[in-house]
Amino acid sequence: MLEIVALSKTYGGEGAAGAGEHVTHVLDAVSFDVARNQFVCLLGASGCGKTTLLRIVAGLTVPDAGEIQLEGRQVTGPGQDRSLVFQNYGLLPWRSVMGNVEFGLEMRGMRKAERRAISQKYIDRVGLTGYERHYPHQISGGMQQRTALARAFSKDPKVLLMDEPFAAVDMQTREMLQDELLKIWTSMPRDEAAKSSRRFDELRRLVRDKLRHDEAPAAP
Ligand SMILES: Nc1ncnc2c1ncn2[C@@H]1O[C@H](COP(=O)(O)OP(=O)(O)OP(=O)(O)O)[C@@H](O)[C@H]1O
Ligand SMILES: [Mg+2]
Repeated sequence: MLEIVALSKTYGGEGAAGAGEHVTHVLDAVSFDVARNQFVCLLGASGCGKTTLLRIVAGLTVPDAGEIQLEGRQVTGPGQDRSLVFQNYGLLPWRSVMGNVEFGLEMRGMRKAERRAISQKYIDRVGLTGYERHYPHQISGGMQQRTALARAFSKDPKVLLMDEPFAAVDMQTREMLQDELLKIWTSMPRDEAAKSSRRFDELRRLVRDKLRHDEAPAAP
């Protein structure tokens, strides 16, 4: 469904400083396919290019070479068919939980009643019922994370991209969120997702591909 074809990305070297500038080769002809309902984890050392790859798939960063195909169509920029959950959640501080969750639908031009109904469904699903009017600073890190997940899910994306979504929370919260993600995932009408998983160990078993990239690019 998602095809990543010979992606390459280099930072630096294109500026006015020319040859004297530091050049970082981050991605070098990276290719892989992702099937519908498949979980793929990108594992790798800090700085090896995981975020860069996710940003390219999200359409936020332009690769130097290669392309992304989603259901046969080339990805040329951000779109409703992909949601990216940022490591820092990316919530808008001046918007409530509901305001954040419905943001993408609002941008799409959906009527208020309809987007409220959809957003409420996902707010309920991530266990934030009753917190709709709270602002990000009034809720815990784990709840902010759940708000970001609800926002990502509310767009009903074909591809859900998550950049170390549990990195910033403590271990207990992380386990709880991993469980919750699994529950949300399995409660979606995605036929192949495992139905009886309770712990992250089982999420690991869902991971059919572990794409390893063990070496970070050389420090400039
Ligand atoms: N906008 C940018 N301009 C220049 N260099 C960049 C830019 N973004 C990333 N890099 C460099 O590209 C490399 C890969 O960065 P990236 O953020 O993709 O790594 P990562 O695998 O996500 O690391 P981490 O695990 O620490 O999040 C790093 O060396 C980084 O310094
Ligand atoms: Mg990163």
